[in-house]
Amino acid sequence: MRGKKALYRWDAEDYRSFSSQQKKWGLELMDKLHLRGDEHVLDLGCGDGLLSAMLAKRVPRGSVLGVDISPEMIDHARRSYPSSHYPNLAWEVADACQLDFCECFDVVFSNAVLHWIRDQSAALEGIARALKPGGFLLAQMAGRGNAAEVACMLVSLMASEKWSAYFRDMDFPYLFHGPEDYIPLLEKAGLEPLRVELLTKDMVHEGREGMAGWIRTTWLPFTQRVPERLREDFIAELVNGYLHDFPPDEAGLVHVNAVRLEVEARKPL
Ligand SMILES: C[S@@+](CC[C@H](N)C(=O)[O-])C[C@H]1O[C@@H](n2cnc3c(N)ncnc32)[C@H](O)[C@@H]1O
Repeated sequence: MRGKKALYRWDAEDYRSFSSQQKKWGLELMDKLHLRGDEHVLDLGCGDGLLSAMLAKRVPRGSVLGVDISPEMIDHARRSYPSSHYPNLAWEVADACQLDFCECFDVVFSNAVLHWIRDQSAALEGIARALKPGGFLLAQMAGRGNAAEVACMLVSLMASEKWSAYFRDMDFPYLFHGPEDYIPLLEKAGLEPLRVELLTKDMVHEGREGMAGWIRTTWLPFTQRVPERLREDFIAELVNGYLHDFPPDEAGLVHVNAVRLEVEARKPL
């Protein structure tokens, strides 16, 4: 393990079951790489490893290294996509803020990760070091205004008498950047921004269960403050409040207004 230990305990199997939207957006993002097939790719924050495995299939003459700060995620990825079936795919537990690769990757790919990272400069400098000259960064993360209605509901729940004791002194844990603040961060790290834009997306969940699954598997900085025995109750209150204001459509699907920041950048030659 390089760097700090993970702050949150991920349930990799549960995340895999409730991350169809992250996977859909990740695959759409991957299509924008236009891979030749011989690239060496770093999948930063690879999670359960599905996207790394898809990348590995797209670079049969190259390689993919999936890294993640969560040992649970890497363990799951390694078991799901073994080297016997994916000879060009490897895994490593590593903190994105402590990458120590030097000019070994043609591409750094990262989906739904960078908004988790407080020290953006450390992560972007590590990415810049890891890329070969001329190498390419393609990342998508939650952006400014993401899931604002859910965040708003969460803030009022956290302030309520029943739950406030668990949220004293809590800052909003994610960084939802826009292009104006992200472009200077890329430049400071020595990366040339090519495209940095906010995209609005309709995040779709399969009813109440899908919405609760998304909250349970990814809003860990909030849910893990609540004792385990009360967690389901907390999530149910949040989901009920959201569904009261934003009921499912005729097909039973729940919609969340998502905003993603998409970043293309190059390491100069
Ligand atoms: C929402 S998941 C995305 C996983 C995968 N990329 C996907 O699209 O399904 C976010 C992942 O970022 C990882 N992560 C968060 N902070 C990290 C850090 N500092 N270094 C490496 N990985 C990190 C988490 O452990 C988690 O697996």
